[in-house]
Amino acid sequence: CGIVGYIGQNDTNEVLLNGLEKLEYRGYDSAGIATLNDDGLNLFKVKGRIAVLREKVDKNVKATMGIGHTRWATHGEPSEDNAHPHQSASGRFTLVHNGVIENYYELRDEYLNDVALVSETDTEIVVQLMEILFNKYNDVAEAFRQTVALLKGSYAIALIDAENQETIYVAKNKSPLLVGLGDGFNLVASDAMATLRETDRYLEINDKEIVIVNRDFVEIQKLDGAAVEREPFTAEIDATDTEKGTYDHFMLKEIDEQPFVIRKIIQEYQDENDNIKLDPAVRQAMMRSDRIYIIAAGTSYNAGLVGKQFIEKIADIPVEVHIASEFSYNMPLLSKKPLFIFISQSGETADSRSVLVRIKDLGHPALTITNVPGSTLSREADYTLRLHAGPEIAVASTKAYTAQIAVLFILAVDIAQAKKLNLDFDPLQELGIVSSVMESLTDQKEEYEKIAKEFFTDTRNAFFIGRGVDYFVVQEAALKLKEISYIQAEGFAGGELKHGTIALIEEGTPVIAISTQENVNYSIRGNVQEVAARGAKTCILSIKGLEQDSDTVVLPHVHELLTPLISVVPMQLLAYYAALHRDCDVDKPRNLAKSVTVE
Ligand code: G6P
Repeated sequence: CGIVGYIGQNDTNEVLLNGLEKLEYRGYDSAGIATLNDDGLNLFKVKGRIAVLREKVDKNVKATMGIGHTRWATHGEPSEDNAHPHQSASGRFTLVHNGVIENYYELRDEYLNDVALVSETDTEIVVQLMEILFNKYNDVAEAFRQTVALLKGSYAIALIDAENQETIYVAKNKSPLLVGLGDGFNLVASDAMATLRETDRYLEINDKEIVIVNRDFVEIQKLDGAAVEREPFTAEIDATDTEKGTYDHFMLKEIDEQPFVIRKIIQEYQDENDNIKLDPAVRQAMMRSDRIYIIAAGTSYNAGLVGKQFIEKIADIPVEVHIASEFSYNMPLLSKKPLFIFISQSGETADSRSVLVRIKDLGHPALTITNVPGSTLSREADYTLRLHAGPEIAVASTKAYTAQIAVLFILAVDIAQAKKLNLDFDPLQELGIVSSVMESLTDQKEEYEKIAKEFFTDTRNAFFIGRGVDYFVVQEAALKLKEISYIQAEGFAGGELKHGTIALIEEGTPVIAISTQENVNYSIRGNVQEVAARGAKTCILSIKGLEQDSDTVVLPHVHELLTPLISVVPMQLLAYYAALHRDCDVDKPRNLAKSVTVE
């Protein structure tokens, strides 16, 4: 979910709606805003997108302060009742919340027996509790502190009081939240991207802090009321990076940006002698470690699988890759000197953060590889490496995946060089070649559109197969396709298909194979024959040097270790065109959110 709040001179409806549009990547099944003016509270809520909310908001109702929310449902189905903002029984307090209140049944049973709840959300408990405690303390700030002190779980909260047009009450634990500072106004947002039009100056808020946000000043407090001093930082995001420009979809724009992102990464990680430049503290942490544990979710996990290859093959350190939400609750035996690498585009994924908190408690070092420098995972880890991919807006991740792989490659090479291991290639030059090849691939969109139409227009399911590092890429290919086109797709190890899954192959079932590795070129082709013999409609994507006449696509040659960076590009384009031709919402697929800040 995403939240935004504003108190200033400008048209609050517009600031809130614009902010929510920028936060829609966090969830978009329902939305709402609440503003205050001399006539009282104005509340607008809808089931559906921000565009629907925009239609509903009465533009004639002017206000200079308010709060807004876009939701990704956890407790309670998407509906107008369950949409935020939520109100207390008398209507005096109104609140938006991102996160999960874990003790909400306990709070309800202890404090709210006499209150008729209107929604099924954990959030409503908080605002009702606020009113009960206000009736007890008769002081809004004190009641807010007492309310927040009772909450267990994750929350970013913004609350307004119908009797006070000068203050937004804010609290945070685990869920992301920033306070934006301006001249004659201040604001609150889940991330800086949402409110860049207003300001680039932000205050970080730490867990278990409360913030009193007024028109002209901002006061951070601990839960016991003690004041906290903090310097603001400047958000280094170019507002135009968050616009679609001439593209119909962010996803296609971001696919096209990949060659430039790779070039930017080369620049950022290169010194004046064209050697790799890396934070020496990261290098030392890697060198000290006897085993690396990569923790990630979704596409970042798939990038981690490729990263394992690099770190093991180039830097000679053993690596395990774990799904964050599994690792949290089923921790494997750790080595004596583990180093944890968190890979996360947003730097906010709650599943990953919960692992970070646990391993920090155990005293282990952590490195975060992220696209968002000030993010929670970046702040809480010992070290950060940046992706330099620019804002990624489409829910389906593309340029962050390739950026993650490129940065992991640079990291592995840096360690190999520090260990004086023999490398028979020039790493940055090889990445430069990748960047040019990527550009040639994104120039051939019609070809991939044709394949997508032929293979995916009418199908219910699809299989992607590969061996070795290609197996990791096909997992990403399948994830891309299912995320945005809703085709049931699986990425399989070519040799494993015959041990069960081949039973699903029918006449016309699409099977896409990737073959970029010499040692398995022969065997993956055998696997394609096996499914073709059972009626599958097959397509092979190979690489120059390993190709055969019947291959559908032959990629230009790049270094054998770096093939995932280029073989994934056609897969992204196939998924994009499949979704487009099936009339799916490419940038905002159903049920998903880009940044999932609940476990
Ligand atoms: C969500 C997104 C995925 C993403 C995953 C991890 O589920 O829908 O696209 O890969 O989170 O996100 P992160 O920001 O940690 O890379």
